[in-house]
Amino acid sequence: MYSLLIFLLSFPSFLCIKGFMLDPNDTSSVDEAAGVVADGLLNYYAGYKKGGTIGMFLPPAYWWEAGAAWNGLLNRYLSTGNSTYNDLVKTSMLYQVGENSDYMPSNFSTSEGNDDQAFWGLAAISAAEANFSNPNADEPQWLELAQSVFNQQVNRWDGSKCDGGIRWQITEFNSGFDYKNSVTNGAFFQLAARLARFTGNDTYTQWAEKVYNWSIKVGFVHEDYTVFDGTSTKDNCSSIETTEWTYNSGLYMAGAAFLYNHTGSSIWRTRTEGFVNKAIDSFFHNDVLYEPVCELNGSCNYDQTSFKGFLARFMVYTAQMASYMLPKIEPLLYKTAIAAAKACCGGHDGVTCGFQWWWFNDTWDGLYGLGEQLSALEAIQAPLLLKNIHIYNSTDGGSSTGDPMAGLYTPTVSFAMTKFTIEKQHWILLIISLVLLLLVAF
Ligand SMILES: *[C@@H]1O[C@H](CO)[C@@H](O)[C@H](O)[C@H]1NC(C)=O
Ligand SMILES: *[C@@H]1O[C@H](CO)[C@@H](O)[C@H](O)[C@H]1NC(C)=O
Ligand SMILES: *[C@@H]1O[C@H](CO)[C@@H](O)[C@H](O)[C@H]1NC(C)=O
Ligand SMILES: *[C@@H]1O[C@H](CO)[C@@H](O)[C@H](O)[C@H]1NC(C)=O
Ligand SMILES: *[C@@H]1O[C@H](CO)[C@@H](O)[C@H](O)[C@H]1NC(C)=O
Ligand SMILES: *[C@@H]1O[C@H](CO)[C@@H](O)[C@H](O)[C@H]1NC(C)=O
Ligand SMILES: *[C@@H]1O[C@H](CO)[C@@H](O)[C@H](O)[C@H]1NC(C)=O
Ligand SMILES: *[C@@H]1O[C@H](CO)[C@@H](O)[C@H](O)[C@H]1NC(C)=O
Ligand SMILES: *[C@@H]1O[C@H](CO)[C@@H](O)[C@H](O)[C@H]1NC(C)=O
Ligand SMILES: *[C@@H]1O[C@H](CO)[C@@H](O)[C@H](O)[C@H]1NC(C)=O
Ligand SMILES: *[C@@H]1O[C@H](CO)[C@@H](O)[C@H](O)[C@H]1NC(C)=O
Repeated sequence: MYSLLIFLLSFPSFLCIKGFMLDPNDTSSVDEAAGVVADGLLNYYAGYKKGGTIGMFLPPAYWWEAGAAWNGLLNRYLSTGNSTYNDLVKTSMLYQVGENSDYMPSNFSTSEGNDDQAFWGLAAISAAEANFSNPNADEPQWLELAQSVFNQQVNRWDGSKCDGGIRWQITEFNSGFDYKNSVTNGAFFQLAARLARFTGNDTYTQWAEKVYNWSIKVGFVHEDYTVFDGTSTKDNCSSIETTEWTYNSGLYMAGAAFLYNHTGSSIWRTRTEGFVNKAIDSFFHNDVLYEPVCELNGSCNYDQTSFKGFLARFMVYTAQMASYMLPKIEPLLYKTAIAAAKACCGGHDGVTCGFQWWWFNDTWDGLYGLGEQLSALEAIQAPLLLKNIHIYNSTDGGSSTGDPMAGLYTPTVSFAMTKFTIEKQHWILLIISLVLLLLVAF
């Protein structure tokens, strides 16, 4: 019975003759493939299902990945002008802002990490840079949302341990509060760099520099531009966890490119080039993007399958912001798009995207999920995004309005969180007491 089930489950793979034969030079070819893959992404959307929440994807997808996915669908619009999902993107990004318009919605805030909040903040700055449809005047604005994430994370900069850095987790009740890592600090760095370029406000440039300096000092960014995963405050950040993830490299790479574009500084030019060269060395095989840490032995978890898609996205930004990098980046993203499209022929719909692009011999590998689909979408639309994205700033077309104080009007989050947890514990104690009382009574 069990083996029959396995057979039936694997059956669609026999139907998978070939994925898309993508021609990255042909706009309609890329558009068509990206459209189908984007539709496939929405098969994981929870908001269409009965009882589902707007802006969320089906479990086991975490909240952060939804923010990343809306940015991916925004890029669909920016690469082709196809606005099919624009209303959904806008509604979702506004539904999840939370009670204080800071991407800390109470449904998720107890488990939320700084990196989670930052991925939504990055989606918000993407919307501002795209001059994406502005929310109504009584709703929070894209720039304001990005500023609110930035301002709160500035307040979480922690000089008490390791001379600086932001912790992975926001509340001390979550495991990972002792960890300072490159995804958190790299995302904060990129957000600061993009706010600097969008607004022209030098405070953001200073913060970006500060985070970058500390990232080198603590050892996240090595002198050859390798980006390591993180370090623990328990030993004063004296030993580094050296795992190398695609998206961490991409976060710093694009952040450096935004600062280069904004400042024109040769230092940021050198750094941008350094990150690009290192990423090409580490994360491409036969010119196709992959996730070395876990892809070959199939050990990537649900989150990790999405990471390489973000590197593709960040390489597009990098080529835009530092146009001298385009000749290097473009051919790699073209070959990656071709390979990813060939892996999109699985599942019952025949358009589910697999995870392994370069080594699975041009077909679906049987893997599927939000991460696989999002990575493939980013990879497939990258050739068109490279051509058509226009990254505005506040004076050359970006109309989103901001508030430098956004995110600072409510009590600090760690305090609010402590109170919340205490209240929750009170309830649990109350319920236990009632149950005991009833037991005693009868
Ligand atoms: C795309 O066009 C360029 C310039 O014509 C060419 O060099 C390149 O080989 C083409 N790429 C693919 C994948 O067809
Ligand atoms: C836009 O993309 C959707 C798929 O997401 C597709 O169904 C639709 O035909 C596209 N519209 C145009 C005008 O190409
Ligand atoms: C929070 O959860 C409740 C109950 O599931 C749901 O109705 C509501 O829409 C959620 N809010 C957000 C912002 O996700
Ligand atoms: C912790 O490390 C920082 C540098 O990263 C150093 O300045 C500080 O003195 C160290 N503190 C302790 C207690 O070792
Ligand atoms: C926006 O970019 C233009 C060039 O495209 C530049 O002249 C202007 O100074 C920039 N604005 C800000 C606020 O940096
Ligand atoms: C970053 O480091 C450089 C050189 O080490 C220094 O000149 C600069 O002032 C530092 N920037 C900040 C914001 O700390
Ligand atoms: C998978 O491969 C990576 C890199 O070679 C290794 O670090 C990791 O431990 C492996 N994981 C499993 C589950 O085999
Ligand atoms: C800076 O970005 C703009 C796009 O906004 C781009 O046109 C320009 O070429 C970039 N500057 C450099 C030096 O690459
Ligand atoms: C791909 O094809 C090669 C030879 O053509 C074979 O050795 C390899 O096992 C195949 N890989 C997979 C994942 O099927
Ligand atoms: C940006 O959006 C505003 C408001 O919708 C609009 O008036 C303006 O024309 C747009 N700018 C560009 C460059 O598209
Ligand atoms: C620049 O940003 C800082 C930090 O958010 C803020 O305090 C300051 O008011 C801003 N300056 C302007 C001119 O908006």
